Amino acid sequence: MPDTVSALGAPAERREGPQKVTGTARYAAEHTPEGCAYAWPVPATVARGTVTAVDAAAALALPGVVDVLTHLNAPRLEKPDDGTLAVLQDARVPHRGWYVALVVADSLEAARAGAAAVQVTYAEEPHDVTLKADHPEAYVPEDEDGTSGEHVRGDAEAAFASAPSRVDVAYRVPPLHNHPMEPHAATAHWQDGRLTVHDSSQGATTVRDVLAGMFSLPKEQITVVSEHVGGGFGSKGTPRPHVVLASMAARVTGRPVKLSLPRRQLAAVVGHRSPTVHRVRLGAERDGRLTSVIHEVSAHTSRVKEFVETAAAATRVMYPSPHARTTHRVVALDVPSPSWMRAPGEAPGMYALESAMDELALTLGIDPVELRLRNDTQREPDSSKPFSSRHLAECLREGARRFGWSERDPRPRSRAEGPVLVGSGVAAATYPVVVAPSRASAHAYPDGTFVVRVNATDIGTGARTVLAQVAADALGVPLESVRTDIGSSDLPAASLAGGSSGTASWGWAVHEACTRLAARLAGQQGQQLPPEGVGATADTAGEADADSDYSRHSFGAHFAEVGVDTVSGEVRVRRLLGVYAAGHILNSRTARSQFIGAMTMGLGMALTEGSTMDAAFGDFAEADLAAYHVPANADVPAIEAHWIDEDDPHLNPMGSKGIGEIGIVGTAAAIGNAVHHATGLRLRELPLTPDRVL
Ligand code: MOS
Repeated sequence: MPDTVSALGAPAERREGPQKVTGTARYAAEHTPEGCAYAWPVPATVARGTVTAVDAAAALALPGVVDVLTHLNAPRLEKPDDGTLAVLQDARVPHRGWYVALVVADSLEAARAGAAAVQVTYAEEPHDVTLKADHPEAYVPEDEDGTSGEHVRGDAEAAFASAPSRVDVAYRVPPLHNHPMEPHAATAHWQDGRLTVHDSSQGATTVRDVLAGMFSLPKEQITVVSEHVGGGFGSKGTPRPHVVLASMAARVTGRPVKLSLPRRQLAAVVGHRSPTVHRVRLGAERDGRLTSVIHEVSAHTSRVKEFVETAAAATRVMYPSPHARTTHRVVALDVPSPSWMRAPGEAPGMYALESAMDELALTLGIDPVELRLRNDTQREPDSSKPFSSRHLAECLREGARRFGWSERDPRPRSRAEGPVLVGSGVAAATYPVVVAPSRASAHAYPDGTFVVRVNATDIGTGARTVLAQVAADALGVPLESVRTDIGSSDLPAASLAGGSSGTASWGWAVHEACTRLAARLAGQQGQQLPPEGVGATADTAGEADADSDYSRHSFGAHFAEVGVDTVSGEVRVRRLLGVYAAGHILNSRTARSQFIGAMTMGLGMALTEGSTMDAAFGDFAEADLAAYHVPANADVPAIEAHWIDEDDPHLNPMGSKGIGEIGIVGTAAAIGNAVHHATGLRLRELPLTPDRVL
């Protein structure tokens, strides 16, 4: 009999690994149907205005150019809920980089040459792309799911004014770009009124549903395939304009059309993390207990849609204090539309809060680990619901032990190695438990194999593998006997790979389908299965959406050691260590990869990543990986992820919480706090580049 205990949690190797390293795993742009044409978009070259004329004659005269679509000749589509998808529908230019035309040609080269030859004339208008905390048009947005808007507890201002110990500090996080390894791409093909799209997406079910709405088609007439996806980090969480343009161009030309966005265009059309300006006020008793917490965040959105970087949301769940106010303000500017980027809200928010906690610890003369322990709680401060499980204190203690925190001399500038100042820092992490309804089916076949079908998406996480583990565990069969079919909207509808919710959401449906199948099989013991197999289905609509009496969040602690070169100003992270409490870990190998991947992204946020909104030009100055610096291998030192296995009965049948995002939360604060410990310099704006350090 199989060891069903080891199936769940075991370090199973990712199933598609060999395909990926041999290049046989095919991504959206690697599907080339017979007669395929290629598209290249034309981005607007003004920051605000309207298109007054498009001259496509020169483009159409080029060899191989098939068509030029503009707002004047493109098909009219049903209005999407997401305004960023209403491409080529009118003459408005809401931001630089907005698509104003699309060239379709026989080859990629001809499409690109055609796009360069399209002449667009604009009526330009003055633009405003500068985020300021006191922008006159800033407003407090509607509170969605308790994550945005303003929350008030007690009288935070009065309590702050009378607190024996106070910090009042401002932090800034610049715009950040997702830049997945695989840029956004789609290949669309209409056949007999049916649309098939290979799209690089985090959730093909949503892409299908949105395309069905926009192209006025029944969902059954569309198939969206996202078989292999090279990352997204939120930027592929919902459909992006490329998939609409490819589908539109394929319909107009009657040919399959492939559109693969050049990386330089991503920043304008696939979303980014909004810059945030933070003011954090912490009031505390002399013993460190917080009496007042005020976290105010300003972020930008575009004129196309409202997106709020909910950077004060984590502050609502971290530390108890009788008085608190957390406020988001957003202002619509002439900027590209911001969207989700790994731990949207928590990543910049916890940078500010956990840096301010370090400042408070220094003010009080209390060890920063100890200060957090003194402000631990088992009840969520904002809702006062009990946490289903919160092992933040254990993460801090375990991390401190592994890191060797007790040997640290708390005085800044207390350790030097020649011109290099060495320091260490700590920060806490948190991320909410998100779960969404999903469907799945499970089948048993006479040859002893099982097939699980669910439209999950593997964005590089190992979703196929962990879902096979969930299935094998529920069925009580060997892992090798289970195949998982994912990545197509023809499979049972499932939620997206986002919000660290994928495994919990899809796994719940898989677990339920397999449990039902196991019961059916038990009832037929000894009988030969029919050739078509025996199946069971599940839909977690009711369970996944049900309200809980508990506040459900993951927690963690990050420890960093840095060396700061006082000659060059360079900060090197020497060691990064995270300890997480995120329910049951279902695959220790792929989980570790998720944790250290996100920690690496946090290292990038701390030291190298940062985009600049050029006020005069009206767009990001950093449009490619030559200008926007993500960490390379040599930047990533000893990096360790550990976890405390939690037994939490208030989650889902697997007892998992979600692990994709928490690794980036608080990491930049731990590094910034370490830089302060090393140098005595409190830098309050990311990234910590040499010009700021010197
Ligand atoms: Mo993630 S930003 O929820 O894809």
